[in-house]
Amino acid sequence: MLEVRNLMVFFENALAINDLSLEVEAGEFVGVIGSNSAGKTTLMNSLSGLIIDMRIKEKRRGGERITIYGNIYYQGDDITETKPSDRVKKGIVLSRERHPVFPESSVLENLKIAGYLKKRSEVLETIEYVFELFPALKNLRSRKAGFLSGGEQQMLAIGMALVVRPQLLLLDEPLLGLSPMMQQAVLEAIVRLRASSGITVLLSEQFARPVLPLIDRGYVVENGMLAMYGTGQELMDNPEIKSAYFGIY
Ligand SMILES: Nc1ncnc2c1ncn2[C@@H]1O[C@H](COP(=O)(O)OP(=O)(O)OP(=O)(O)O)[C@@H](O)[C@H]1O
Ligand SMILES: [Mg+2]
Repeated sequence: MLEVRNLMVFFENALAINDLSLEVEAGEFVGVIGSNSAGKTTLMNSLSGLIIDMRIKEKRRGGERITIYGNIYYQGDDITETKPSDRVKKGIVLSRERHPVFPESSVLENLKIAGYLKKRSEVLETIEYVFELFPALKNLRSRKAGFLSGGEQQMLAIGMALVVRPQLLLLDEPLLGLSPMMQQAVLEAIVRLRASSGITVLLSEQFARPVLPLIDRGYVVENGMLAMYGTGQELMDNPEIKSAYFGIY
């Protein structure tokens, strides 16, 4: 479904993604594991196309040069230079790191805003589905999003991505800043989401421990480079992963 081939992303002269290749098959749950500044967000922005917008903006304001090499294929098409809105139309939807929601709007309004390009009946149907997935959100439907806890906002952010009806859902660090209990709640919802909808999920995370048991396959990224890959089980059994991600934390 998705194939990244020899991707390189430079910010000026700094290499954020270094010759990275990966694949995601339809229906898979794939993890990208990496510590701070490994390149997770840059990868997600490259997949969603946000990097294309960033490159245009930086060029306009005479800022740093963003250079992209390599190719990204989605369902057989080369989308490396496809703009983000067209990628959304193809079904690639990113839920960004640190969950930007509209703080002055209610939970329900946020979900409706996210679906502004979709048919109203479709949106209302998906919102019901989101509430089934995250029952906590249903009870908070009238609350201003700015008053939600971090975990609740994260659920809302994922819900907003779902309203767009993704085929490939990209989640950039959905567990960031959440308590272990909230992390479990978000992960369980992702597992339920896959079971009930068959959506393909690519999730980036620095916390390997809760993620590895759930993913089909994972890629470990260090300094923008692929350090290791394998099934969730293989990665869990890997001694290097054990010491790097399961040791002290
Ligand atoms: N707009 C930018 N300009 C310059 N350098 C950048 C920019 N965005 C990212 N970088 C650099 O690229 C590298 C990868 O950053 P990125 O944000 O992709 O990492 P990350 O894995 O998402 O980290 P985190 O876990 O902290 O979110 C870092 O060294 C970072 O400083
Ligand atoms: Mg990041």
